[in-house]
Amino acid sequence: MNRTDRKLHALAAAAGRDLPDPMAGFVDLAGIRESVEDLTKAFAPLGRVQHTVAAKACGLAPVLRYLGDLGVDAEVASPGETAVAEAAGLRGARLVLDSPAKTRAELAHALAEGTAINADNFQELARLDDLVTTPRSVLGLRINPQVGAGRIGDTSTATPTSKFGIPLRDNRTAIIDAFARRPWLTRLHVHVGSQGCPPELMADGVAAVHALAEEINAERRQVTSIDLGGGLPVNFASEDPGPSYADYVATLLAKVPALADGRYTFVTEFGRSLLAKNGFLVSTVEYTKVAGGRPIAVTHAGAQVAARTVLQPEHWPLRLTALDARGRPKTGPEVPQDIAGPLCFAGDLLAKERPLPLLEPGDLVVAHDTGAYYFGAHYAYNTLPRPAVHGFTVTERGEVEFTPIRRAQSLTELVADAGAEYVGALPEA
Ligand SMILES: Cc1ncc(COP(=O)(O)O)c(C=O)c1O
Repeated sequence: MNRTDRKLHALAAAAGRDLPDPMAGFVDLAGIRESVEDLTKAFAPLGRVQHTVAAKACGLAPVLRYLGDLGVDAEVASPGETAVAEAAGLRGARLVLDSPAKTRAELAHALAEGTAINADNFQELARLDDLVTTPRSVLGLRINPQVGAGRIGDTSTATPTSKFGIPLRDNRTAIIDAFARRPWLTRLHVHVGSQGCPPELMADGVAAVHALAEEINAERRQVTSIDLGGGLPVNFASEDPGPSYADYVATLLAKVPALADGRYTFVTEFGRSLLAKNGFLVSTVEYTKVAGGRPIAVTHAGAQVAARTVLQPEHWPLRLTALDARGRPKTGPEVPQDIAGPLCFAGDLLAKERPLPLLEPGDLVVAHDTGAYYFGAHYAYNTLPRPAVHGFTVTERGEVEFTPIRRAQSLTELVADAGAEYVGALPEA
């Protein structure tokens, strides 16, 4: 059964059980397995590759554990992501620590655990000079290859002035010198951007960093691995996934055939391409109205689960489907309507003037391709709860089994997060 059919079965089954919450996320477990198979098969020509998932794309412990069981480690970029990955059973050398703002404590923890670290800048390298004794961790340096931006400026990290990594064109000699003075530096890291960067641009970044590795190694063999980052774009316009991992590896090898010569091992850090197509959000339509002639459906999915879509709709549009209350696709003429979220600002719209069969209270709206960077990246405005997330599997006969990944945040938890323990701590007004 393919991904689309599994989704239809899961939607009908979830609606048939009267979705317990007004909005929830769903994760296609078989879809994740297929994505991991595509990934590992595609990269096989590169020899030894440690595949990690970018935890920021979906920092949910059961998903990280599931990926871990499939042989995928984790790239973490904060103490929180590290703690969740460790709780999911991924620790030590199964983690790679990035982030441009690692504290001394984070670095010390990673070093004690044997977690790989990609230093972001020269000051961080100087900190490592103090902390590194006999490193168990693989230690690397993040390079900004300065190959330019993709379609979305905010997620392009290889621009001339990006905040990430050490700009290569500006610092080539200093980077080579930094390696010469630190025999424990053995890895180069590059991540050109996330969504909107075509595979050719990503490959340009890898080519620049491979050339740098060769230059460093011309003196003595020091760089033994290259972390290729993530960033493969996803097609949000249809069920077609977009460029495959195999397409990307073909682009890489066309540009740098030497990547397959066995002289380097590799790390990958994909997030969106592994998970986006394997998740979706479902919200009930609570009310409908017409304003200035425009139909509006008020749902429970707004900026709290889809901040980027709501705030930058031109870059992050989502495909939506209208279902009836029993989870069946709605029919009828398509009418342009706003799909609104519950937050208290007028721009809290999941889609504007979207042609869909006219929605009614009790209908469902599906936001497709939201398995990465949506229900795992909550925005706490209006004290709205993080939604429940359910994993699902579908048998060949179409039976759907749901397994909990996260329950919805409770009112008690929301109250605690709002500082309730200090409610009497301020001096009397
Ligand atoms: C260092 C690093 N690696 C990996 C990723 C994952 O990117 P993507 O989800 O586009 O594959 C990101 C995302 O921003 C990142 O910053």
